[in-house]
Amino acid sequence: MNITSLTQYKEQYEAHKDDTAWLETCKEYEWFNFPTKALEGNFNDANVTWFNDGKLNITVNALDRHAKNTPNKIAIIWEPNNPEDKEIKITYKELLERVCKFANVLKDQGVKKGDPVCFYMSMIPELLVGALACARIGAIHSIVFGGFSAKALAGRIEDSSVKFVITNDEGPRGDKKIPLKEICDQAISMCSCVEKVLVVRRTFANLDYNEKHIIINDLLEKASSTFEPVVMNSEDPLFILYTSGSTGKPKGLLHTTAGFMVWSNQTFKNVFQAKDNDIFWCSADIGWITGHSYMTYGPLISGATQVMFEGIPTFPDPGRFWNIIDKYKVTHFYTAPTAIRALQACEDRFYKEADLNSLKVLGSVGEPINIEAWNWYHENIGKNKCPIVDTWWQTETGGIMISNLAGVTKAIACHATNPLPGVFPILVDADGNEIKDKKASGNLCISKPWPGMARTIYGDHQRYIDTYLSTYAGNYFTGDGAKRDENGNYRITGRVDDVINVSGHRIGTAEVEDAINKHELIIESAVVGMPHEIKGQGIMAYAISKGSHADIMSQINSHLVEQLGPIAKLDKLVITTGLPKTRSGKIMRRILRKLAAGDKDNLGDISTLVNPQVVEELINKL
Ligand code: WTA
Repeated sequence: MNITSLTQYKEQYEAHKDDTAWLETCKEYEWFNFPTKALEGNFNDANVTWFNDGKLNITVNALDRHAKNTPNKIAIIWEPNNPEDKEIKITYKELLERVCKFANVLKDQGVKKGDPVCFYMSMIPELLVGALACARIGAIHSIVFGGFSAKALAGRIEDSSVKFVITNDEGPRGDKKIPLKEICDQAISMCSCVEKVLVVRRTFANLDYNEKHIIINDLLEKASSTFEPVVMNSEDPLFILYTSGSTGKPKGLLHTTAGFMVWSNQTFKNVFQAKDNDIFWCSADIGWITGHSYMTYGPLISGATQVMFEGIPTFPDPGRFWNIIDKYKVTHFYTAPTAIRALQACEDRFYKEADLNSLKVLGSVGEPINIEAWNWYHENIGKNKCPIVDTWWQTETGGIMISNLAGVTKAIACHATNPLPGVFPILVDADGNEIKDKKASGNLCISKPWPGMARTIYGDHQRYIDTYLSTYAGNYFTGDGAKRDENGNYRITGRVDDVINVSGHRIGTAEVEDAINKHELIIESAVVGMPHEIKGQGIMAYAISKGSHADIMSQINSHLVEQLGPIAKLDKLVITTGLPKTRSGKIMRRILRKLAAGDKDNLGDISTLVNPQVVEELINKL
C-alpha cells in the first residue's frame, strides 16, 4: 500500500474496511508460504489472528532482500555518545552478516526457537543486531530499557522465565556511564531462572566476571556470517515488551511476526513518506516500542538509511540533536514532545547555529504535544516548511494508528488527525455507548482488530481481556481520552486511566504507590499526575508518614530509584494526615488530581467523603 495522495488515502481507507485487502499488501513481502487468510477472530472471542497460514522470517524482509538488492546501502549510522568518537556506518550487507554472527553465537549458547531472551543494554549496534538475531532464530526478544532499576529488571526477567540475558558492561550516557552489567548482576541475584549472561564490552571497564558471564565480543567476530532464517508461522511470537498498567505489575505485551511486520512497515512508509535516499532518525531508545517499530523493524523492512544515537540531547551541549541532523543531512526526524520542550527551554543559539536545511519531515510521539512546543518545532526546527506528523499509538498497537501522512493529508497543530487504513476508532461515553456525533469527546476505542495489535499479555491472557477488551465489550479500549472535530480529526487529550505519562513514558500510579508504601516511613500513599512544563506530566504523591522527617522527599526518591528506576522519581510530595476517602474506603483520586493541577475551586461534590476535613488540610498545604 503506497499512499501518495489524499484521494489514495480515502480509497485505501475504504478498501481496508474489508480485512482481506491486507492480503494485497502482503505481496510486498517475502514469504516461505504466502498467506491466504487475513483476519480471523474478533474482540469478543479475544483470539485474533492475522495471516495465520503464512510462513516467513521477518529478518528476510528487513535484511536479506536489501543485502541482495542494495548491499552497499547504509542501513545504520551509529553516532556515539561522545561527538569526538567516530561514527560507525553499517551497510545492509554488513548488517545481515552481523545479525547472522549474533544468531550463531546465540545458537551456540543454547538459545532456541521460542525462548524469551532479555536485553538490558544501551544504544549500541549490538542491541539492534541482537534483537534481529533473535528474530532470525525464532527466539522472543524482551528488551528492557537501560534506565530501569535492578528490581524492575528482575521482575521482567522472572515474569517471562528468561534463561538468557544480554547486557553490556557500561552504557555511556552524557558525562555518566550507566553500570548496566552491575545492575544486571543485582537483578539476576534476585531471580532463579537465568542460566547465562552474555556481555558485550562497550567501554572495556575493568569489571568482575564470573562463570555465568560470557563475554561475546570475540565470539561475535569469529562466528560464521551466514545463518539460515528459521521458518516462522505468522502468529509465532516476535517479541515481548513490558509496559506499565493501572495495577502494580507491568504487562508483557506479546507481538507476533507477520502482523507486526506489516504494521510497523506500512505505517513507517505511509506516515513518513521517506524516499530512497532520505535519512531517517528516530531518537527513541530501543527499550521502548518506538525504537522497536521505527528503528529495529519498520525502516529496515523498507530498506531505509537511519541514524542510531547512543547519547542524550543535551550532551555535550543542547545543540547535539541539531548538529547530528546537519552532520548526516537527516531528512526525517522523529522525537517526543518532552525532548522538544527541554530543548526549547535552552538558549536559542543552539538551534540557530545549526543549518537544519536537510529536514523534510518532523514527527512527534508519546504524549500530547502542547501548542507552544508544536509551534517552536514547526518554526525553528522545521523552518515552517516541514510537515509535522503527530503520531498517536501505543505499545499495544504495535505501530502508528492515528496520524496525518507527511505532505499527503493535512496537518493540524496538536492533532493526530485521521486514522490509518485499517484503523476504526470510535468515541464512547461514560456508559459505554458509542458517540455518533461527528464533533464529540469521549474515551477512545478501536472497534476492529488490526494486524499490528498485541495478541496477549505474556502468561496472562485473562489480564489482556480484562484490561483492553472488557471495559467496552466488542471494542479495544485504549485508556486514552480524545476529541473529534466536525471533520473527523482526532485530538488525543491524554490518559483517562491510572497511568501517568512522564516524559512520554508510561508509569502506573499503582506501581509507584506499591513502591512508596514499602518505604519504612510511609503508612499510606496516593499517586497522581500533575502538570509539568518539560515532562508533560510529573509524579505527585500524597502520603501519610510516621512522624516528621526533614529530608523525606529525597529519601523516598532514592527508594523509588532503587525500586523502579529514575523515571519514577517524585516531582512533588505532600505529607498529610489523611487521604480523601469514600465510605467504602476508596481513595477519591479525582480530588487529588484536581488539587495537583491547582484546580482547588472545582473539586465537585466532596460530601460523600468520610473525611472532608482532609481536603481543607491539603488545600492549605499546596
Ligand atoms: C500517549 C508510545 C497524544 C497516549 C508510542 C498513549 C500520545 C501512550 C501520542 C502510549 C500522541 C502516544 N498524542 N498522546 N501523538 N502518542 N501518546 O505505550 O497516552 O509508550 O496511550 O507508546 O502515549 O505510550 P507507549
